[in-house]
Amino acid sequence: MEKDIVSGLEAVHKSLPSKYFYDANGDALFQAIMNMPEYYLSRSELDVFLHHAQDIIQAFDPKGYFEIVELGAGDGTKTKVLIRKWLDMDLEFSYVPIDISKNVLDQLASEFKKSFDHIQIKPIVGDYFNVLKDKKEMTHPKLVLFLGSNIGNLRGENQLRFIQSLSDSLNPGDALFIGFDLVKNPHTILDAYNDKSGITKQFNVNILARCNRELNTDFNLDNFTHYPIYDPETKEARSYLISTKKQVVTFPASGRQISFEAGETIHTETSRKYTKEDIEQLIIAANLKPVGWYYDCKHYFVNVLSIVK
Ligand code: AVI
Repeated sequence: MEKDIVSGLEAVHKSLPSKYFYDANGDALFQAIMNMPEYYLSRSELDVFLHHAQDIIQAFDPKGYFEIVELGAGDGTKTKVLIRKWLDMDLEFSYVPIDISKNVLDQLASEFKKSFDHIQIKPIVGDYFNVLKDKKEMTHPKLVLFLGSNIGNLRGENQLRFIQSLSDSLNPGDALFIGFDLVKNPHTILDAYNDKSGITKQFNVNILARCNRELNTDFNLDNFTHYPIYDPETKEARSYLISTKKQVVTFPASGRQISFEAGETIHTETSRKYTKEDIEQLIIAANLKPVGWYYDCKHYFVNVLSIVK
């Protein structure tokens, strides 16, 4: 973590990898974000699940036992809705949530055990691709969920590389079910990352607080301000932390010192938004066949089911 953080802060344009938002504190803040009135993404995706759960499984058409593999499952609130609906259809499946955070998976597994008594849950802590590669020899079909527009947090070419690697680690006939946040009124998008209650600010600053906790750095959190933007041309919402004064921060383990000018930016997160054409291009370039497009009632969000060729 220190190596990644220092190299991001030593770059000409300072940036930090957004995966470091998610310690126990960041997980809790993200759960609070999902319940905020401005953060429409979670409600929109839930709306998709409530209205289209049956159509999705019919398009996948597993013909017998299958495995639902969820990448970066979070607290699983929305996934529970899908699973409940699929159990009601008498389908036979097990649920395999994969996450790099054991903390999140433990919470998720106990939540699922409370809600469902007859479903097999097999949580795996680890890297998505290693886990999927290990599973490649299994003959039963897999439905891989990558929800919440998590795809939009990958920067630039990494989005295509990610979907391509997923597609390569699956077998023909397996399916990928991906959630994408759509382009819409830019004010609606910006508000989702600039809530009045300041929860997103706390989430953003948590990355520095985490450095103080785990790397013993001396970031003064009051000297950084949360600054989100949405650029409708690149279709990227970006979050920055901006240094409000000239200051120096020390990483004691390596002795590295990072200087900040007043007004200097740290890019902490990209949340890409998509048009239908953008999504089509990505999916087709990854050698997948899109077979179902499921929208919420406001057309804010789409979940796309694609089959591995
Ligand atoms: C996890 N991810 C899809 C969220 C997003 O919308 O990019 C993370 C987030 N950052 C600020 N608010 C929510």
